[in-house]
Amino acid sequence: MPATKDGSQVVNQEHWTAVDGYLADTFLPPDSVLEQVLANSAAAGLPAINVSPLQGKLLMLLARMQGARQILEIGTLGGYSTIWLARALPANGQLITLECEPKHAQVARENIALAGFSAVVELRLAPAVESLAEIVAEKRGPFDFIFIDADKERYPEYLEWSLKLARPGTAIVADNMVRKGEIINAKSDDSRVHGARKFLEIAGASPRLDVTAIQTLGIKGYDGFALAIVRS
Ligand code: SAH
Ligand code: DHB
Ligand code: MG
Repeated sequence: MPATKDGSQVVNQEHWTAVDGYLADTFLPPDSVLEQVLANSAAAGLPAINVSPLQGKLLMLLARMQGARQILEIGTLGGYSTIWLARALPANGQLITLECEPKHAQVARENIALAGFSAVVELRLAPAVESLAEIVAEKRGPFDFIFIDADKERYPEYLEWSLKLARPGTAIVADNMVRKGEIINAKSDDSRVHGARKFLEIAGASPRLDVTAIQTLGIKGYDGFALAIVRS
């Protein structure tokens, strides 16, 4: 995208990246564990689609604001967001994370061990809907905080399962809700856009949820996330 000026505002990827760099330099001290986690993920050939460092810290702060003791994550990849979320937990906290790719799960297990969270994090290697059905059958939960970040086509299903595993007050965060603005294109030929739109529409219409969504700019480009709280 060419650099354009909108008033005093510079709008291009280079500038969003530079601003993320400045904010990360200001708020995020050097973190050799998370740097190693990303290096391991890259070396194993995992796609670099993890949340950004600033977004990871936002997840940690939201989970901490929530006083979360039980966290559920759908979509582990190399465990980067998992580790940020695990850092929000109190001493007796637990996190279950769901992943269906054996290679991702293997890298994530190594990374989670490196970060010292093997005893806190349970990684389930299976299609997420299968793990979710098992977690319900096992009567696990309720979860205090749920992060949805797997295949976008199934976000509506993940929302349904999340509501089964929630309590009044549970926070649900869903990543990748804006997709470069494609979210307003009802005629998109991208099934991920339709999954995201359906998720937002179902969440918005649910009498059990208070929901918002925020557009974001940064090193990952133009996207956004939804945040919902389960009503009392
Ligand atoms: N939360 C991670 C990024 C997750 S990327 C982070 O920010 O660090 C999405 C992940 O979801 C990928 O690893 C992909 O393999 C996994 N995934 C996709 N479809 C899935 C499914 N049906 N069940 C479980 N995991 C799935
Ligand atoms: C993709 C997935 C993500 O979860 C993300 O944050 C960015 C990109 C993807 O599948 O392309
Ligand atoms: Mg994502």
